[in-house]
Amino acid sequence: MNGNYNRKAEPYKIKMVEPLRIPGPEERKQALAAAGMNPFLLKASDVYIDLLTDSGTGAMSDRQWARLMMGDESYSGSRSFYTLEAAVREYYGYKYIVPTHQGRGAEHIISRLLIKPGQYVPGNMYFTTTRLHQELAGGTFVDVITDEAHLPDDPFPFKGNVDLQKLEDLIRKAGAEKIAYLSLATTVNMAGGQPISMQNLKKVRALTRDYGIRIVHDMARVAENAYMIQQMEPGYGHLSVAAIVKEICALTDAATMSGKKDALVNIGGLLAMNDASLYEEAKNLVLVYEGMHTYGGMAGRDMEAMAVGIEESVQEEHISARVQQVHYLGQQLLDAGIPVVKPIGTHGVFLDAAAFLPHLPQDVFPAHALTVEIYLNSGVRVIERGIVSAGRNKATGEHNYPKLELVRMAIPRRVYTYRHMDVVAAAVMQAFENRNRIRGLKMVYEPAHLRFFQARFESL
Ligand code: F0G
Repeated sequence: MNGNYNRKAEPYKIKMVEPLRIPGPEERKQALAAAGMNPFLLKASDVYIDLLTDSGTGAMSDRQWARLMMGDESYSGSRSFYTLEAAVREYYGYKYIVPTHQGRGAEHIISRLLIKPGQYVPGNMYFTTTRLHQELAGGTFVDVITDEAHLPDDPFPFKGNVDLQKLEDLIRKAGAEKIAYLSLATTVNMAGGQPISMQNLKKVRALTRDYGIRIVHDMARVAENAYMIQQMEPGYGHLSVAAIVKEICALTDAATMSGKKDALVNIGGLLAMNDASLYEEAKNLVLVYEGMHTYGGMAGRDMEAMAVGIEESVQEEHISARVQQVHYLGQQLLDAGIPVVKPIGTHGVFLDAAAFLPHLPQDVFPAHALTVEIYLNSGVRVIERGIVSAGRNKATGEHNYPKLELVRMAIPRRVYTYRHMDVVAAAVMQAFENRNRIRGLKMVYEPAHLRFFQARFESL
């Protein structure tokens, strides 16, 4: 995979364009001040290249746009629901689905159904919304990811792996009945977009089966994980990404999916499962919080587009170009000696802000300060994935101090070109040259939940 990023161009041609605007330096300063020094609060019209997220920001294909017109908006029993259900059965293999407005809608439902107050939810690192729903349902998240995941410099290829010893220790200590389920993500977002290996997943399945513990699969980026298995794991090179995706899903019991990532839609998600009685309960609860079980949180047209997106997400040309574009950006930064999380992940490049700004202690928010610098010098929007995102400890009220203090540059799917990646690399290199003058920040407004979205800061 290495070395050939430049040989292949984007595997599509562009049929419609959206003009970009580059705000000037003074404009950027004012826009950022108005946003409380939080790039999340910028107006998108004040952003040049937007790497805030790869979620819901992808470009749909002509086939997806065409299918929007075919949406069946019936309140109940929509044909589009059955189309989406058939795509999930074909490409993922889960038997039952309930559509939700996005991934967190599914997280809400499954957390309420499966977590009893006082139970533990082990997982291969937390994701913000996922953990919050687990906590709101009375659970306590326990990180059981492999230690390498916390070491930005460690080149271990499968940093999404579960540490089986940590998992078994927790089960033994707490008792299997105190474990609600294993929350298992394919590609671990907060670790830098890192995959789990099939070998590890098989062992995790065997262990959880022994203890009668379910695996709930966070499959937002399962195709990206499958691609990395195909590229890196011995014995998988000859299999298609589609086959590997199906094999991953078959090793889990239920899934939450944000349709806004792999599945190439701007909004939508689903909860999937194999257990008929769990499906009965999910149908009941989705009605309360999302909508009737044959549309949940989605319009018929969006279910159509998502069904097509699922199919496109496992196509080899698409998924290899997707990941290789991310690696192209990452390789430029590696070559320039900039501290990034290694190996380069699948949905974005993560800067190691602790190594980038060693003069700033974690409680003046170094990663956040770096996002501010990059926006000011270029108009490129990137986000913090460090102490601000980690929130506070429920019990003590103190900041959680995550081992990783990162800046995420997430690449939307099929939106930007290789040349845009060059512009982003130049912006990061400029920030690196000026790193010694980057100062820390003080948080002057802090919301109760998911504070990174709306917190406001001042320069120190
Ligand atoms: N799980 C993972 C691994 C995610 O990355 C996300 C969303 C969700 C669940 C929740 O899905 O947004 O559809 O409700 N991640 C976005 C991001 C927000 O920018 O990484 P959602």
